[in-house]
Amino acid sequence: MDSVVLQAENLSRRYAVRSGLRTETLHAVREVSFSLKSGRTLAVVGESGCGKSTLARMVTMIEHPDAGALTIGDTNLMTATAAQRRTLRSQVQIVFQNPYGSLNPRQKIFAALEEPLRYRDDISASERRKRATEMLAQVGLRPEHGDRYPHMFSGGQRQRIAIARALMPEPQILVLDEPVSALDVSVQAQVLNLLADLRKQFSLAYLFISHDLSVVRHIADEVLVMYMGRVQEQADKHTLFDNPRHPYTRALLSATPNPDPAVREDKRRILLKGETPSPMAPPSGCTFHPRCPLAFARCSGESPVLLEQTQQGGQGQATEAVQAPQSTQSTQTPQGGQEQAPQAPQAPQTGTGMASHAVACHAVEESR
Ligand SMILES: Nc1ncnc2c1ncn2[C@@H]1O[C@H](COP(=O)(O)OP(=O)(O)OP(=O)(O)O)[C@@H](O)[C@H]1O
Ligand code: SF4
Ligand SMILES: [Mg+2]
Repeated sequence: MDSVVLQAENLSRRYAVRSGLRTETLHAVREVSFSLKSGRTLAVVGESGCGKSTLARMVTMIEHPDAGALTIGDTNLMTATAAQRRTLRSQVQIVFQNPYGSLNPRQKIFAALEEPLRYRDDISASERRKRATEMLAQVGLRPEHGDRYPHMFSGGQRQRIAIARALMPEPQILVLDEPVSALDVSVQAQVLNLLADLRKQFSLAYLFISHDLSVVRHIADEVLVMYMGRVQEQADKHTLFDNPRHPYTRALLSATPNPDPAVREDKRRILLKGETPSPMAPPSGCTFHPRCPLAFARCSGESPVLLEQTQQGGQGQATEAVQAPQSTQSTQTPQGGQEQAPQAPQAPQTGTGMASHAVACHAVEESR
């Protein structure tokens, strides 16, 4: 339990994009590092276009990183042979947002579930069917469902089938790219609970991609926050939700309903100014600086590095509270009233044992 099954180091991916007569480079993911442990869920969050799905495609070997290293189990993917890559592919499976799109409408469910095992000569046809029937039961469906077509199921049932299909090759890692975003709220909870049960039962590691922080609060152990292709903050769930340090994380969290009424009452909405800039012309320095309520002179000239802090024991290592540089913005309530400017991020006060809290922000760094 809790062994590292996947290690990503400085993964980067860029695309060549036509813009009029010119070809420009779009950096979708830049130097992203993390590790994934069996039985754990790492959530990746951030606004649309920040690089979440690109990261998912690299981890599942759909796309090759331009730079960096990816190690699955003991095998370095960057130097793996074709045979090793084939084996690794079965170890990392993906579930997409739209289950209907990922199931062939002309293929019955049994055929869809058995397909990933079809080329394995060590598994007979009857064994394949037996495994498919068992897997249907694991995801809460009955054997007769195997003889039906995808259009004969509800959205929630189809996502259960997509999960069952992903589990057929007995992977160690499941990449879940917005797996409940297309489902009704009541069905979301059922599918999330199913995923939690399956993770426990099969000791799976999840890379869980979502823009919905309420969902992340429910399922994640650790959270990685991305903005314009880069990691801005990474910490265990409780540390991140209780003491977000990066101004971007704080803005994201302030827009998320909190189940705790005390926190809810205390919370002030931080409205970010402007849209995410074009990834083909990212701002200089900290790419968040045009929208950051705490931006100061250094931010537009120098890109912050991800600084890691290890927390000791259950209370977290005491550090100085971050000093607010010149605040540049007041915030508005949805009703149009003024609210006070966001306070500088506070040092983490809680932790779950030895946890690491990494933040890329000049304001945080200067407070140390
Ligand atoms: N094949 C591609 N060619 C060119 N640009 C791409 C390609 N795939 C992704 N991008 C760009 O890379 C950036 C990251 O895209 P990605 O799909 O990873 O974002 P995302 O965080 O998953 O967004 P969403 O939440 O909307 O799904 C975006 O600017 C996107 O337009
Ligand atoms: S580095 Fe500057 S602009 Fe970027 S998040 Fe920190 S304070 Fe804001
Ligand atoms: Mg995406």
